[in-house]
Amino acid sequence: MIDYNVPGGKLNRGLSVIDSYLLLKQGSEVTEDEFFLACVLGWCVEWFQACALLLDDIMDGSHTRRDQICWFRRPEVGLRGINDGILLKCHITRLIKKYFREKTYYIDISELWNEIALQTSLGQMLDLISTHNGADELAKYNIEGYRRIVKYKTSYYSFYLPVACALLLSGAKLENFSELRDILIEMGIYFQAQDDYLDCFANPNTIGKIGTDIEDHKCSWLIVQALGHANINQIEVLLKNYGKKDSTSVSKVKSTYSTLDLKDMFSEFEDRAYNHLVTSIEAQHDRAVQEILKSFLKKIHRRKR
Ligand code: FPP
Ligand code: MG
Repeated sequence: MIDYNVPGGKLNRGLSVIDSYLLLKQGSEVTEDEFFLACVLGWCVEWFQACALLLDDIMDGSHTRRDQICWFRRPEVGLRGINDGILLKCHITRLIKKYFREKTYYIDISELWNEIALQTSLGQMLDLISTHNGADELAKYNIEGYRRIVKYKTSYYSFYLPVACALLLSGAKLENFSELRDILIEMGIYFQAQDDYLDCFANPNTIGKIGTDIEDHKCSWLIVQALGHANINQIEVLLKNYGKKDSTSVSKVKSTYSTLDLKDMFSEFEDRAYNHLVTSIEAQHDRAVQEILKSFLKKIHRRKR
């Protein structure tokens, strides 16, 4: 179960713990033991991601993930996969206890992981309750609601968590890095908008998964933009077809997206989001903070998968 679900991703999150740690330690020696601990936390982030995706695929009724059938779709697994997700999560706590219980920052790191688990689950709840079908629900979608969902479901664990782990490992106090956190949250929102775009427009062979956002009635970046720019007729098509499983309805939503030039709109959004992030990063006084943020942004800018 671990071999099936933990490897196979891009490892951006896990490697960011190590990259950030090395940038924070620039100028001073990193011992083999310290490097090992950064790797432990990097893998913990990847286990967290594996747990979140395993469970998310059950909730979203997804088919494939990382170029293979979703774990719960295997005939011998089914809903027993929920327990596998819980096991992955429990082992993070064990790994952290095993390697960090004697450290002065053990309470801080334990609290960080607990808080991030809560924030991610709350984000997932917001994501899921936005999918109640129906015109009334769709009419409520807007960019503020969208930002709230993805800040919690994606940004905290994917962007803030790896850097916060590196900070604690290097002896820093997290309360001194709230600006860094806010920029990472913003980067996570940009990242999830890319995920939403790719869900609809990318080749499943490239992203390793088949998108389900339209079928699942998700509050995705695309539907929020579409509703904001559509005329009355187009809104009617969206209301009638969004959240339906049949391929004719999905095609109608996709062709409305095309008529509205959502691909171009997304490309403009990417440029704006990127420039805004670069400006915020360059305003940071701390050189290491700047480098950490730049290295993270480089990993995701204009990504195709
Ligand atoms: C993918 O989003 C899923 C998430 C970003 C988070 C899912 C979170 C949970 C299931 C709660 C997990 C709780 C703990 C404690 C680990 P998506 O469906 O938009 O992306 P996708 O296209 O990759 O499926
Ligand atoms: Mg999903």
